[in-house]
Amino acid sequence: MLFNGVALYTAERSFGALRETAGWVRDSQRAENLVEHVYRLTVDAETGQRGYLLTGDSTFLEPYSRARDQIGDKLKQLRELTADNPAQVSQLATISALLATRFEQMERTIALKREQRDGAIRDFLLSREGNVTMDSLRLALGGMAAEALRQHERRLQAFTDNLETVRLGFLVELGINVFLVVLGVAFLAQELNRRRREIRDAQQAGAHLAMAVQERTAELTELSHYLQRLQEDDKSKIAREIHDDLGGTLAAAKINLQLLADKIAPEHAQQPRIARIMAGIDEAVRMKRRIIESLRPTVLDSLGIGPALKWQCAQFSSRWGTPCRVELDDENLRLSPDYSTTFYRIAQEALTNISKYAKAKNVVVSLRQHGDDWVLRIADDGVGIDTATPHNPSAHGVVSMRERARALHGVFSIEGKAGRGTVIEVSVRIDPRAAD
Ligand SMILES: Nc1ncnc2c1ncn2[C@@H]1O[C@H](COP(=O)(O)OP(=O)(O)OP(=O)(O)O)[C@@H](O)[C@H]1O
Ligand SMILES: [Mg+2]
Repeated sequence: MLFNGVALYTAERSFGALRETAGWVRDSQRAENLVEHVYRLTVDAETGQRGYLLTGDSTFLEPYSRARDQIGDKLKQLRELTADNPAQVSQLATISALLATRFEQMERTIALKREQRDGAIRDFLLSREGNVTMDSLRLALGGMAAEALRQHERRLQAFTDNLETVRLGFLVELGINVFLVVLGVAFLAQELNRRRREIRDAQQAGAHLAMAVQERTAELTELSHYLQRLQEDDKSKIAREIHDDLGGTLAAAKINLQLLADKIAPEHAQQPRIARIMAGIDEAVRMKRRIIESLRPTVLDSLGIGPALKWQCAQFSSRWGTPCRVELDDENLRLSPDYSTTFYRIAQEALTNISKYAKAKNVVVSLRQHGDDWVLRIADDGVGIDTATPHNPSAHGVVSMRERARALHGVFSIEGKAGRGTVIEVSVRIDPRAAD
C-alpha cells in the first residue's frame, strides 16, 4: 500500500514535470517559428517597398503595410515567450530597435517617392544605410533563431529525461504491483489450502462421530432388545410359578374345603361361611388367571398373534366400552416369540395410551402383509397425538415401542392429527425362517 502510494505520488510528479517540459518545448518551437516569421515579414515589406520605389504603384505597398501591422504583435508574442531567457531578452531588444530603424527607413523612402523626390531616394540607396540595417537585423534574427534552437534542444533533452523518469516510475510501479499480485495469489492459495484442510478434518471428524453414534445406537438397541427379552423371560417365569405354585395351592385349598363341606351336614351353621371361603378362593383363582394373562398371555403362545390381538381388543372393549375391530391378513399366522411378543407388546402399549389419552370412539387394529413385510397398525379416531410437543423424559411408552421395532430392524411411525386421531405403524420384515 505504502509502496503503491509513493510510486503513485512520484509518477504524478513526473507526469506534471513532463507536461511542463512539453509546454516549454512547444514554446521554444513557437519562438523559433516567430523569429522566422518576423524575418519573412521584414523581407516582404522590403520587397513591397522596392516595388513601389521602382514603379510608383501603390499596390506594391500592400505587403509592406501588412508586415508593418503584424510585426508589433509578433514581437509582443516573442517577448512573452522569451521573457525567462536573459540572452533572448537582450537579443529581442536589439531586434526591436533594428526593426524600428528599418521600418523608419522604408517609411522615409516611401514618403520621398510620394513626394517624387527620386534624387533623394537615390542618395539614400547609395548611402547603403538600409542594407547595413538589414544585414544587422538578419544577423540579430539569426542569433536569436540559433538561441531559440539551442533552447529548444535543451528543453527537448529535459523532456526526454523526464520521460525516462516517468517510464522508470511506471516500471517500478508495475514491478511492485506484479509483486503484490503474486504475494496476494500466494496468500490466497495458502488460505484456500488451509480451508480445504479444515473442511476435510471437519468432515473426517463428522464421519467418525456419525460412525460412533451409529455404533453406540446399535449397541443400545442390542442392549434394549436383550433387556426386553430378559423381562419377557422373567414375566414368563413368574407367570409359570404363579400358575404352578399359587394355582396348585388354591386348587388344593378348594378341594379340601369341598371335602370339609361334604363332611358336615348341609344345614350346618358353618356351611355359609364355607361357601364364602369357596367364593373367595374362586375369586383368587380368577385374579391369578388375570395376573398370568397380563404377564404372558397364554393365548399368544397357544394360538398365535392373531387370536392374541383379538383377545387384547376384546379386553379393551369390555373394559373401556370403546369398539375395537381387528383386521388380519392371516388368522393363523405363527411367528417366532420375538416377533409375536413385539407386535403384542406394541399393540398393548398403544391400546393403553388410547384408553388414557385418545377419547376415541373407534379403534382398529390390523396386521397385514406387504410383500415380505408385516405391518401392525393401530388407529384411533380420538384427539390425535401432538408430535410437535417436546418429548416428556418420564414417558417411556412410545420410546419403548420404537425400540422394540428397531430391535427387529423394523420401521416405527406415529402420526396424529388434531381431532382426527392417531395412527401407529410398525413394519417388520419377517424372515420366513422366523415363523414358527
Ligand atoms: N392415541 C393417542 N392419542 C392422543 N395422545 C397420545 C396417544 N398416544 C400417546 N399420546 C400422547 O403421547 C404421549 C407419550 O406417550 P407415552 O406412551 O410415550 O407416554 P405416557 O403414556 O405418558 O407414559 P408411559 O407410557 O411411560 O406410562 C402421551 O403423554 C400422550 O400425550
Ligand atoms: Mg404410554
